[in-house]
Parts: sequence; structure tokens; C-alpha cells
Amino acid sequence: MKDPPILPSEITDEAEMAQHQSRRKFLKRGALTVAGAAAFGGGLLAISSKRGTAKAPALSSLPELSAAPPSSAAPLAPIAPLGPRDALTSVEDVTTYNNFYEFGLDKDEPAENAGSLKVTPWSVVVDGEVDSPRTFGIEDLMAAFPLEERIYRMRCVEAWSMVIPWLGFPLAALLAKVKPNSRAKYVAFTTLQDPVQMPGQRSNVLDWPYTEGLRIDEANHPLTILAMGLYGRALPNQNGAPIRLVVPWKYGFKGIKSIVKISLTEHQPKTAWNTAAKGEYGFYANVNPDVSHPRWSQASERRIGDLARRPTLPFNGYAEQVAGLYSGMDLAKFF
Ligand code: MTE
Repeated sequence: MKDPPILPSEITDEAEMAQHQSRRKFLKRGALTVAGAAAFGGGLLAISSKRGTAKAPALSSLPELSAAPPSSAAPLAPIAPLGPRDALTSVEDVTTYNNFYEFGLDKDEPAENAGSLKVTPWSVVVDGEVDSPRTFGIEDLMAAFPLEERIYRMRCVEAWSMVIPWLGFPLAALLAKVKPNSRAKYVAFTTLQDPVQMPGQRSNVLDWPYTEGLRIDEANHPLTILAMGLYGRALPNQNGAPIRLVVPWKYGFKGIKSIVKISLTEHQPKTAWNTAAKGEYGFYANVNPDVSHPRWSQASERRIGDLARRPTLPFNGYAEQVAGLYSGMDLAKFF
């Protein structure tokens, strides 16, 4: 009998595994110091014993979304060029190899557990240093902002990467609607907090809710989008339904999922990973092969589906578009 084929997702690269485990171990240690052994033990057990309780629906059962044709004023290709080695990552890998700690720490757990997230109804508050604060229902966002397909590379801080066809709209278009005032220097994002729907929040591996932030010029950059779909359909829960941030030149952890609040702020906001370990995960988190993570190199990465590693590109290959945002900054200091 012939051996069954080995799926790319079943092949584990040892270096990558070491990085993932190292990040997990770090989290476990962190949780111990923050919360004490008893709370920590209960929390992690709670995470790992809920495996498979509410499997997320398959992508094929989610509503189809259509993208508006790219406008001639802003043709897509110059905004987001892909390289010859940037084949799309398979739907299977994009939707089953995830980081979404609200649903568990292992890569397969978000797809197994995120069925408990209720994404309708959903609304996003946009407030802070703005003249016209507003709460948008998901339907309001769909009606107000035509979706564009953006095929971006995504580079995780753990040194693996994917190429994902997102459906989304520029964050700048949403910010323009609420009229930021002159004090608005940063944009802060918050994920839903609900330990009933998000069982991972019952443990304190991170300071929940998950938060992220951008400088306002980064937020207004045309590459920065709010994604509501991928591969032609609504976002699967495990990928951050119903709406998540995508900033392709930064490490994947900046791409906060299942957003309920966007606040314009005068001061740099607190962000989840930076709060957990500020020496390891900077506020900027621009992909940078020259600045190692304290526990692993960022010089190369494994594209999910490939066996060999490849060099990591500055700003994840988007330097031409975004390097100007950081001119004069010491990127080793502001990592
Ligand atoms: N957002 C929330 N709320 N919680 C998370 O754990 N993980 C981040 C980011 N957004 C995370 C999150 C990390 S570390 C990465 S690499 C990306 O989501 C992964 O996105 P994907 O699972 O869609 O590939």
C-alpha cells in the first residue's frame, strides 16, 4: 500500500517549533509571576481541556464577499507588489494554523475552539480624540466601505510566514469619517473581552483584552487595512471575525483580531505583547532581519508550505512603500 501524502501543515520545522515553544514557555513563566502558581495552573488546564468543544465553521460555509474592482486612481499592483516566490498559502493552512490566544495556545486550537465566538450582531466603537465619535455596526461598515482584495505577505514574530488574500478596506477611510482632531497622534485597538465566548481569557497568559496600537501616520498608510474576509468569504472566527487589522510590514501580532474598539489617542497606547514583555515585543514591531528577538534570530523565516527557510526582508518586503515613515529613527532602539 502507498503511504498517505504528507501535508505541508504536518511538517514541523525544528527551528520554528523551538521558537513557538520558547514563546509559550515564556508566557507560562510570565503568568506564574503575575498570577501565582494556583491561578496559573487552573488557567492553563482550563485552556487545554476545552479542546474541540465548539469547532469553528468551515470557510466554505461562510458568506461570500465580493471585492470592488481596484480603482484606476489607486491601482492595486503598485500598492502591494508580490514577488515571484509569493504563491498563496493554502486555505487549509490559513484557517487551521493560527495564533489567537483567546482560544488556546496551540496553532490548531483556534479553529477547534473559536466556534463559541458570536459575531452577529457586532459593532465597533470609534472614539477618543475625534470630532465625530461613532459606533459602527458591521453592516454599516460593509455599506460604507467597498472591500478590496489585498494579497499580502504576513510574517509572524515566531519566524514563519504566509501569503493571504484578504478582503478589506483602508483604515484611513474609517478614520476620516470620525474626523481626528489635532491631538490624535496614535490609534489604539481593542479585542472583545468575554471569557464565556473566549475561554482563553479565563487564564492570564496575557493582560486581556488583547490590545494593539499604531502611530497615526502608520494607521493612515494605504497598505494598512481592516480586513473582513479572506479567500472571497467572510473571515473565519479563528482569523479574527468579523473584523481585524492587517499591517503587512509589521510582525503578525500587530494584526489584532475581533476588534470592538478603535480609539484615537494623544499618547502611545499600551499594547498586549509589549505589556507582557517589553524587551521582546516592541511597540513598532516592524519586520526587521537585522534586529533579533532576544531568544531567536529574525534573519530568516519558513513560508508555511515550504521546507526550506528563506531570508526575511526588511519591512517584510514593503520597504519601498513604508521605510519613509521611519526616516531618522534608530530601528534597533524603536524595534
Ligand atoms: N489578536 C488577538 N486578539 N489575539 C491573538 O492572540 N495573535 C496575533 C494576531 N492577532 C492574536 C491576535 C498573532 S501573534 C498573529 S501571528 C496573528 O494574529 C495571526 O493571524 P492568523 O491566525 O490569522 O494567521
